[in-house]
Amino acid sequence: KSKPANKSADERSCESLYQRFYERFYKENIEIFTDGALVIEDGIIRDIGDYATVVQKYPDAAISDYSGKWILPGLIDSHLHYPQTQSIANYGDQLLSWLENYTFPAEMAFADEEHAKSIAKVFINQLLRNGTTTGFVFTTVHASSCQALFSAASDINMAIVAGKVCMDRNCPAQLQDTPELAQRESADLIDQWHNKGRNKYALTPRFAPTSSDAQLAALGELATQYKDVFIQTHLSENRDEIAWVNSLFPHADGYLDVYDKHHLVRERSVFGHGIHLKQDEWVRLGEANATLAFCPTSNLFLGSGLFNIEQANANNVHVALATDVGAGTTFNMFKTYGDAYKVSQLRNAPISPFEGFYLMTQGAAAAHQLDDEIGNLNPNTTADFIIVEPRYDELTALRISENAAFEDVFFALSILGDDRMIEQTWISGQCCYNKKENQHALA
Ligand code: GUN
Ligand code: ZN
Repeated sequence: KSKPANKSADERSCESLYQRFYERFYKENIEIFTDGALVIEDGIIRDIGDYATVVQKYPDAAISDYSGKWILPGLIDSHLHYPQTQSIANYGDQLLSWLENYTFPAEMAFADEEHAKSIAKVFINQLLRNGTTTGFVFTTVHASSCQALFSAASDINMAIVAGKVCMDRNCPAQLQDTPELAQRESADLIDQWHNKGRNKYALTPRFAPTSSDAQLAALGELATQYKDVFIQTHLSENRDEIAWVNSLFPHADGYLDVYDKHHLVRERSVFGHGIHLKQDEWVRLGEANATLAFCPTSNLFLGSGLFNIEQANANNVHVALATDVGAGTTFNMFKTYGDAYKVSQLRNAPISPFEGFYLMTQGAAAAHQLDDEIGNLNPNTTADFIIVEPRYDELTALRISENAAFEDVFFALSILGDDRMIEQTWISGQCCYNKKENQHALA
């Protein structure tokens, strides 16, 4: 279920009360069936409930038994880069030199379509084996890299949100397009892929430093024309980056305003990071119904800073969890919450397991206005779900008792877990990954 949109001024003024509000809310709005059943038909969830009740209603159903395991909604990763699959885990740099030294070289290789196709498969397989069924994905400047990803996702009916990266300055010449080319290629990709099957398009200017005002304006025109496409970019991740943006755009009133002036701040805008925001930017993001992608493993890895989720909540800004691979250090959303928890500990405001779970399922889906399709196990949504085996090795079997509460198990797995906890990943009613058989749908 979704959290209510607004709180009273009294609640807003009192932070600890605030936290309790959330704690209460998340607990009340998750339904847990200890002996449950999920009914799927033609790729859609038909029903959910207590096993004994459900089984009576569907006497002809074929039954798969997952006793001792969990059935959870497929996980949503709200910001990551598929071309960085192979440049994950590179030593030593913070954002701007990391881009120069590792990221841009890796992205240049995507001029080769065959390379793009092969990495798209590896990438999707990594998502599947970690239980992620929807990703918000940056491709490269090459339209063909975006084609390769949508095409691979379409093979398994996976709901991917993606876009061609647009950059027309401050990066290697081979990675640059122009305002006109960015607009034309993005428009063509929208026509070809947006709302075709389960694909959705995201206009993707990489970040303000690599786009001219003319390019942002060209993309802003598309954002106005295609109201239901997504917009994804980066925002206020690193202090040197922000100083650079201020010098490149002296007429804007800060980083967010660079995008805002070009109609790129609206619902279905997803901004990566937002670590060093000014108060007026928090307010504006809330007003605009935009979303911040909180990428804790990346923020720690690049030394970018500690995301302030209390500020987001206080300003009614949607937050969704994300890996940000390859600055992020894992594809696993449980582990990503584990690092979000550690970040929040450093801020003295621990994020509860319920909130963490919400930020990778229903909370993300509601932020993106996709909760009628993904993010939950409600009837009439698409059958994207995962089977989790909590006690998958000696240590987890020791730590996690058989009748432990949901939040305890979820938390322990978020700190200890890895892809071994994911037993199966189902997409559109089809099993696309099975750990036991080490079988991926994209061979
Ligand atoms: N800012 C601009 N590009 C990138 C990127 O690829 N990764 C991250 N983490 N931040 C960025
Ligand atoms: Zn990113």
